[in-house]
Amino acid sequence: MNWSLKKAMREMALPFLAFLLLLLLLPICNVDATQANNVFNVRDFGAVADGESDSSQALLGAWEKACTQEGRPRVYVPKGVYMVKPLVFKGPCKGHVVVVQIKGVLKAPKELSLFNDEQWIKFEQIDGLLLTGGGMFDGQGAAAWPQNKCPQKKDCKTLPISIKFGHVTNATIRSLTSLNSKFFHMIIFKCSNINLHHIQIKAPENSPNTDGIHIGGSTRVAIRNSNIATGDDCVSVGPGNRNISISKVFCGPGHGISVGSLGKYAGEEDVSGLRVRNCTLTGTTNGVRIKTWQSSPRSSASNFMFEDILMRDVRNPIIIDQKYCPYESCDATFPSMVKLSNIKFRNIRGISTSKVAVELLCSKAVPCQNVELRDINLKYIEHSVPALASCSNVVGGVSSGLVVPPPCI
Ligand SMILES: *[C@@H]1O[C@H](CO)[C@@H](O)[C@H](O)[C@H]1NC(C)=O
Ligand SMILES: *[C@@H]1O[C@H](CO)[C@@H](O)[C@H](O)[C@H]1NC(C)=O
Ligand SMILES: *[C@@H]1O[C@H](CO)[C@@H](O)[C@H](O)[C@H]1NC(C)=O
Repeated sequence: MNWSLKKAMREMALPFLAFLLLLLLLPICNVDATQANNVFNVRDFGAVADGESDSSQALLGAWEKACTQEGRPRVYVPKGVYMVKPLVFKGPCKGHVVVVQIKGVLKAPKELSLFNDEQWIKFEQIDGLLLTGGGMFDGQGAAAWPQNKCPQKKDCKTLPISIKFGHVTNATIRSLTSLNSKFFHMIIFKCSNINLHHIQIKAPENSPNTDGIHIGGSTRVAIRNSNIATGDDCVSVGPGNRNISISKVFCGPGHGISVGSLGKYAGEEDVSGLRVRNCTLTGTTNGVRIKTWQSSPRSSASNFMFEDILMRDVRNPIIIDQKYCPYESCDATFPSMVKLSNIKFRNIRGISTSKVAVELLCSKAVPCQNVELRDINLKYIEHSVPALASCSNVVGGVSSGLVVPPPCI
């Protein structure tokens, strides 16, 4: 080869190689670029992971940007502890799904004076939400619990809830921990199509009103594969809910899995469709419970199935209480007017720490209708003494299979 040809090849090789390299890198850069455009790291908005600086404006800034993006934008909270004042993540958003990925810990302030609203963190009017990341919401409730007078007084000032979802649709909430809320851990209110799973909720047994998850006025909410240990109900299903499912939930300590309380307020909507299955309750005051107030307005609760449930040292494993009164005394002018019907208890087994393992205390004004007890095996913790079932005002009850204690319906 002569010199000029060699030189020409050399001169062409470089740009050619560079071109090849560009071709190879282009798709990678592109993906990176689009992802980067859609990820809003709260650190870039001024969040400081020192556990003290107020990072709420940074979270809000990242949310507001993400909320205006199409596709699947993501708010990203990296590892670290961030102090966050009360905050509303408000929609509607532009994207198909907004992701909030929390790897770190969000820590609530201790000072109650900083809370003007009902809750600490709220997700509102969002269609399409994924809240996840393995991180934690730390409500720092211990300092507030002594100020809660609600367990004693009917007209009490309630403390802030940790996380509230209001008018949220098509959401998944998974792989997160809620610790030591001041009041309830989570409220799901007027939502539909909500999936919660792999949620850990933790507060001490003696912390007042630290309910795990309360659901109200919502449709198609499913909670599964979660651990809830609190000072109040693990899950409670309030008025106006339809098609709620609770499965593979480990509950305890706490007050158990409850429907209610129902009939406290005028204008409450009916409850219909609840399936609780494959749950384990450990050391709770109640297992599966339906509670309604006396002197209540008229409403109904129907089509409940409680099945495949293990009770490990539970005080009241199966209980319907239509004289619910958490205070010293309640208005008992007339009986509860909440009509309960089609309630099935199937394959419920384990140990009761009180002698009455099955208690169906229904309203004499509107008796419970179509209650089924099938394959029940509940023993009193003192094995020499048999467990008992006690019923009042149940009509159309059926029992089948082995039912221990012997059915009272
Ligand atoms: C959310 O669910 C509703 C039905 O509850 C449906 O009409 C709507 O299209 C869903 N939105 C998305 C983004 O999937
Ligand atoms: C609830 O579930 C039942 C039975 O699966 C279904 O027929 C009904 O349409 C559902 N209702 C709502 C509001 O999702
Ligand atoms: C409960 O879980 C077991 C084992 O995972 C499964 O075989 C069973 O079908 C479940 N029961 C219900 C009602 O889903």
